Amino acid sequence: MTMMNAAVVTSFDEPPHYQPYPVPAPDGGEVLADVLAAGLHPRVRSGAAGRHYTSSGTLPMIPGIDGVGRLPDGRVVYFAAGDDVLGTMADKALVDPRRSVELPAGTDVAAVAAAMNPAMSSWVALRRRVPLKPGQAVLVLGATGNAGAMAVRVARRLGAGRVVGAGRDAGRLRALAAAGADDIVQLTADADVTGQALAAAAAETDIVLDYLWGAPAQLAITALLTARADRARALDWIQVGAVAGPTIELPSVALRSANFRLQGSGQGSVSPRGYLAELPSLVAEISAGTIEVRPRAVPLADVTQAWTDAETPGERTVLVP
Ligand SMILES: NC(=O)c1ccc[n+]([C@@H]2O[C@H](COP(=O)([O-])OP(=O)(O)OC[C@H]3O[C@@H](n4cnc5c(N)ncnc54)[C@H](OP(=O)(O)O)[C@@H]3O)[C@@H](O)[C@H]2O)c1
Repeated sequence: MTMMNAAVVTSFDEPPHYQPYPVPAPDGGEVLADVLAAGLHPRVRSGAAGRHYTSSGTLPMIPGIDGVGRLPDGRVVYFAAGDDVLGTMADKALVDPRRSVELPAGTDVAAVAAAMNPAMSSWVALRRRVPLKPGQAVLVLGATGNAGAMAVRVARRLGAGRVVGAGRDAGRLRALAAAGADDIVQLTADADVTGQALAAAAAETDIVLDYLWGAPAQLAITALLTARADRARALDWIQVGAVAGPTIELPSVALRSANFRLQGSGQGSVSPRGYLAELPSLVAEISAGTIEVRPRAVPLADVTQAWTDAETPGERTVLVP
């Protein structure tokens, strides 16, 4: 059996360890690629802890949901992993052409590995779930994380007329304002003050990109709907992340008394074909620097340490075999 080195999770209670693992065997149309870079996204952490909704619970597993790899013919591709057992944080990984896109020569592979996942969340939501119409107003709830900060820029890039960013961290909110958000709202422990600030800045929002869920989303839904001038005007709420909690309590009146349309965007609600169709444009935007996150390259051999290292805002750890 041929062996390679990989990040390997043997217990959902521990970070992965760098150790030998059998080289995976291609099946069907798959190709074995040399991995060049793989991003350590929140989704990778939840998968490696057995907490993601797609987790099969199988151990041992190699974490990593996407990455950049070199194919045997020399082409360099961005690709998404096919399952949750054979991930991308290894010397080699399986690439399915139906989940990959070729990168132009000279592409910054670490930049693509870092940015594609957070950028995709808003890009796909605003192109595949609720296509943004030019001039519409967008609220990003949870705009202080990497994906949320990118969502502000993506919404603008896709034609939003007004973009409001809401989040906890005051420093990152100020950076968003400097980077072009029309308004910012700080989410604080004071629900009344926060609700009033959301209503003042975002009552006439057309689309909410929600990275938080939990208590802040519950508060914001009522705050926005009750403050709208015309409740029959559609408010499209796209649930994208749940860093503030997995559930909310939704009053039925929210759905009866206003034109409130709630849906999510992610693996499952968007088909693999839908994601694939958006990849070339995303590569172009990342390469052009319109949407970016700073990659922090770490050798794959240091994966256990990388798992617990703190990232500075605007950074995304990228593991390099
Ligand atoms: N569905 C999709 O297609 C998709 C794709 C990519 C990512 N996601 C999801 O999007 C979420 C964010 O990803 P990311 O890459 O941006 O992660 P990230 O860079 O780690 O950012 C997470 C941010 O969440 C904020 N946060 C945490 N707890 C909070 C709370 N209780 N209330 C308010 N803010 C809170 C923090 O901001 P502060 O500093 O302000 O506290 C933090 O910066 C994750 O849940 C991820 O899984 C979904």
